[in-house]
Amino acid sequence: MPLIEFQDFSFKYYGADFLALKKVNLTISEGEYVVITGPSGCGKTTLCRTINGLVPQFHRGYIAGNVLVDGKNTRDHTVAEMATIAGLVFQQPENQLVTLNVEKEIAFGPENLGVDPVEVRHRVEELISLLDLEHLRDKHPHEMSGGEQQRVAIASILALKPKIMVADEPTSNLDPKNAELILDIIAGLNKRDMTVILVEHRLDLVSKDASRIVLMNDGRIVADGTPRNILVKDLCQEIGVGVPKATLVYKSLKNRGIDLGSVPLTGEELATLVKEAS
Ligand SMILES: Nc1ncnc2c1ncn2[C@@H]1O[C@H](COP(=O)(O)OP(=O)(O)OP(=O)(O)O)[C@@H](O)[C@H]1O
Ligand SMILES: [Mg+2]
Repeated sequence: MPLIEFQDFSFKYYGADFLALKKVNLTISEGEYVVITGPSGCGKTTLCRTINGLVPQFHRGYIAGNVLVDGKNTRDHTVAEMATIAGLVFQQPENQLVTLNVEKEIAFGPENLGVDPVEVRHRVEELISLLDLEHLRDKHPHEMSGGEQQRVAIASILALKPKIMVADEPTSNLDPKNAELILDIIAGLNKRDMTVILVEHRLDLVSKDASRIVLMNDGRIVADGTPRNILVKDLCQEIGVGVPKATLVYKSLKNRGIDLGSVPLTGEELATLVKEAS
């Protein structure tokens, strides 16, 4: 059974002139790692909000079609219910952090859902260790770096034990080192069977881990497939997607009659292909 299913789903924010999502059809199965990319304003954030029910429960507007997440129609379930299925990590972690220290932050969600206190303690300790937060245990979120805040935000979402993690440009405010750390954590969660939906522009950093890239433009899905199949398409460059350098080199060699045989996503893969070819 698919875990997420968009069925001809369209959405227009209340008061907006244009549809933010136009007849979107998208099926995602358990365990996938799907990267959503596309130009600014194409509907990526709206798609994320739809998966965890913020659209249409919090952001209201015109809807056509349906979205089913773990069998639940998002029209009929509250954001609190959906949060235990699909957790959403935002671009700005500080908007997401609501309490006075890391322990309280991680405990906040499950405590509010009435989870047994012993179980809450257990989850807090497990996540402090998993996300390497021990040294931050008593710190106020505002005393932490952006990368640390983002790790705490991820922990607080995992505390609800969701099946799906949706992350909307979680690295856009981070330096390259912290961005890689967060992306490694997300890839690690996927390896432990978490279904991941990630909005990301830095495709050079995520394509090796993602199982699928969904390319959006103007409220529509315009391409959907494995990173190697999607990133070689001219459409990516036409709409301004950040194609990895290694893939661009492959394409320009191919245009000059040199076929490396398979599409590289990283510099290392490109080097190996060139070595084999020579
Ligand atoms: N709360 C809102 N109310 C009204 N219109 C909105 C709202 N949020 C987004 N929109 C509109 O919906 C469309 C899609 O926006 P969305 O934020 O989903 O795009 P995006 O792909 O995430 O862009 P970016 O890359 O800049 O984050 C845009 O036209 C935007 O102006
Ligand atoms: Mg966005």
